[in-house]
Amino acid sequence: MKRIMILSGAGLSAESGISTFRDSDGLWENYNVMDVCSTQGWIKDRQLVTDFYNKRRSELESKNPNHAHEVLAQIESKYRGRIFHLTQNIDNLMEKAGSKEIIHLHGTLTDLRCEACTEVFNLGYAAQTGSEVCPQCGNKRIRHNVVMFGESAPEYVHITNSMKQSTLFIAIGTSGAVIDITQIAKEFKHSILIDPKRQATSSSYDPHQYIDEYFEHFIQKKASAAMDEMLEIIGNHFGEKK
Ligand code: APR
Repeated sequence: MKRIMILSGAGLSAESGISTFRDSDGLWENYNVMDVCSTQGWIKDRQLVTDFYNKRRSELESKNPNHAHEVLAQIESKYRGRIFHLTQNIDNLMEKAGSKEIIHLHGTLTDLRCEACTEVFNLGYAAQTGSEVCPQCGNKRIRHNVVMFGESAPEYVHITNSMKQSTLFIAIGTSGAVIDITQIAKEFKHSILIDPKRQATSSSYDPHQYIDEYFEHFIQKKASAAMDEMLEIIGNHFGEKK
């Protein structure tokens, strides 16, 4: 059976007003990533990290899904059981768009996690105050439910699983700086890259100069504007009559 693996990144939510990480106006331009998103930073200054995610969580309440989120949620239900959508994003815009099966590889902003029993529980858009208690084990050592640099990402198991079961790979709005999309695309006969910017490969030893050279289709557009072309390729892939 033909199935589709989608890997999305910060670019998917850019048109909803959520900063990406590495674009000129990206988050990592305004914050030192190792201070606010690494194990060292967390050990050094828990309050600085907690404040960083509290700010992002409160900002999320007013953000709405864009056309790309909506289309991706629609194909999830139209092709139920044949779409693996893995996202690096910690926002809840896919859920706001109606997605039920989105897999968050780097955690979720609207949840907290117990450092003792790893129980994950919802906080909504509120700020973490330090008075939270784990609903499972009663422990008070509670943290944000976001995978930081230097930490393991247990949900990455879904990457190999969905690669094995899929026949079309779609990368949307990710630079590949953390999950190397070229290594995934190499395993697929059929693939689509969606990114308004042409990204150079990172190593000078790379046989290709640009990331898009690893892909069958390169839709050099913003996510929302790319959806019609993507839907056409998906329809062909599933052998749908025009
Ligand atoms: N539509 C599609 N793509 C876009 C758009 C848009 N409107 N705007 C920007 N992009 C592209 C950029 O050109 C870039 O290639 O989205 C990509 C965003 O890349 P990054 O900022 O590196 O974000 P991402 O790949 O998701 O980062 C991966 O790094 O910082 C960590 O944990 C964090 O999950 C994140 C991971």
